[in-house]
Amino acid sequence: MSLTNSPEGGACFAGTPITKVTMPALAEMKRQGKPISALTAYDYATSRLIDEAGIDLVLVGDSLAMVVLGHENTLAVTVDEMLHHTRAVRRAVRRALVVADMPFGSYHSTIAEGVANAVRFVKEAGAEAIKIEGPRVELVRALTAAEIPVVAHLGLTPQSVHRMGGYRVQARTADAVVSLAADAQALAEAGAGALVLEGVPREAAAAITAQLTIPTIGIGAGPDCDGQILVFHDLVNLTFAPPAKFVRHYGDAAALLRSAVEHYREDVEHRAFPSDAESYHLPEAAKRVLGPNTELSRPLEKLRKA
Ligand code: KIV
Repeated sequence: MSLTNSPEGGACFAGTPITKVTMPALAEMKRQGKPISALTAYDYATSRLIDEAGIDLVLVGDSLAMVVLGHENTLAVTVDEMLHHTRAVRRAVRRALVVADMPFGSYHSTIAEGVANAVRFVKEAGAEAIKIEGPRVELVRALTAAEIPVVAHLGLTPQSVHRMGGYRVQARTADAVVSLAADAQALAEAGAGALVLEGVPREAAAAITAQLTIPTIGIGAGPDCDGQILVFHDLVNLTFAPPAKFVRHYGDAAALLRSAVEHYREDVEHRAFPSDAESYHLPEAAKRVLGPNTELSRPLEKLRKA
């Protein structure tokens, strides 16, 4: 089954009109106590599958630096690379909210530069919201004033890997939890529409979720957040590293792809691929023109006999 446009121009799935997920819709889901499902995606094919599976929010995460581009951390990915992948995701997604991650360095100097780069994600790549890491309250206020919906991100913020001294669970003391909750509240008051909480104790995430009117989306933050997000490659075992404690493998794409590629190689080596049925054939008229004694026709000897 595939996504098609309805005659009225709206998106449909299997003939049923789709209700587009928007930033206000996420807040409504929180009010109604409906869990929000979110995943990262970086390309057309997986985004399309993720959207058709009914995931509410697709994040073009800067984790693409690691899981797609093979970098050691997320710091190297550029605005242009993120835009390139956001466009591909945007072309695939009909229903989910498309959120683009602002990469390291694109919002860390002036507020004006942060807003200008965020505008590029909306204008040039079709993002419906952007995500920024850290308690950047003034920037969230400026983005909100510029009509750009913001997903904030607190706790273990991977762009701060060097400051944190590695990927460590954050907010492990009472003081740190109080400070995290204050940052979360300030970001919500500045206009953030949702908050990703990453790598924090379950109790801290639960308290912040209860305190905020905007939805929290957890990753390594326990089950009490309003929604959950995982890196797609973690979900399907394509990350070539031991999984973090919070990762659950819902499939083994590595095993599936490895086996498919190995079988293809074996078939090529044994001349078992392609078969005659997988080959194109000359029309009868052309076969007749290429007579038995011409240079060109010699390889067709067999064809004529067939
Ligand atoms: O880049 C990313 O993948 C993220 C996570 C929240 C999943 O920021």
